Amino acid sequence: MSTPSTALSRGRESNVMPGERVIWDSMGSELHGVDLTAPFSDSQFNEIRRIFCKRHLLVIPGQQIDADQLEAFAMRFGQPDPVVKTEANDGSFRKAVHSVSNLNAQGVPTISPVINANYFWHSDRAYRPKGSICTMLHGIEIPPSGGDTLFANLILAYKALPEVTKKRIDQLKVIHSYEFMRETIMKLPLTEEERKKQQPSEHSLVPIHPETGEKILFIGMYASEIVGMPLKEGRALLTELQEFATQPQFIFAHQWRAGDVVVWDNRCLVHKATDDYQMDKYRRVMRRVVVQGTAEF
Ligand code: SIN
Repeated sequence: MSTPSTALSRGRESNVMPGERVIWDSMGSELHGVDLTAPFSDSQFNEIRRIFCKRHLLVIPGQQIDADQLEAFAMRFGQPDPVVKTEANDGSFRKAVHSVSNLNAQGVPTISPVINANYFWHSDRAYRPKGSICTMLHGIEIPPSGGDTLFANLILAYKALPEVTKKRIDQLKVIHSYEFMRETIMKLPLTEEERKKQQPSEHSLVPIHPETGEKILFIGMYASEIVGMPLKEGRALLTELQEFATQPQFIFAHQWRAGDVVVWDNRCLVHKATDDYQMDKYRRVMRRVVVQGTAEF
């Protein structure tokens, strides 16, 4: 594996300031003139970081980069996170930069890949005490239509809640558990070793975004229980809040083109892939890296 600077030096000599096009009123900007094979000056990267914090979702089209170059870009945002489950959908070993695909161990498209959690609403690594800052996906092989990634804006969702609900939930704490997701979604109980490594975390149900100061309705597939509430009641509340937060008015659908790099803010968006394409016919292969969070919330 090459070092990030070697990886970057294989491309253009330097970048220019990114041109920004707002893609949806409520979140997301497409950046033009960005070449992830070329180095960024601090001021160029600070501009990307500024747009990321404001818009929470970046689409950087047309990137011909390898895994090292994707990792080098991720490292500008923070520390790439190691994966939990080491077996990839296609049977290969998963590293910080790994693939998310609908392939089986023989490399054949399937409707039931080993890792299917990307088809359910979640914020990556929400079960860690500091969550994650962002995830990057690089579109490698895209089905002819469908297979979009959906993003729901949890800041907008919180703002739209009735005042009485805000009052009810503002001070609540929620447990986010990798084990809960593995049992309810992947139907694959943890090994003892995985259980030791993947302890659940307690977060505010309504944390404050560390960079914008806005309130977030922090739900998703790892949210397993509300602290101090009977299990059934807590789950019912979490289901109700997730249904509210993932209504169409809070959602942006990204339609993939090969070469897109999409970066999103896991602190205030949940996301999921859509399974509306012929999964046993077309290949959907993404390269992915998650950047660790830096603050407890
Ligand atoms: C993910 O859950 O990180 C990947 C989403 C996707 O496959 O579109």
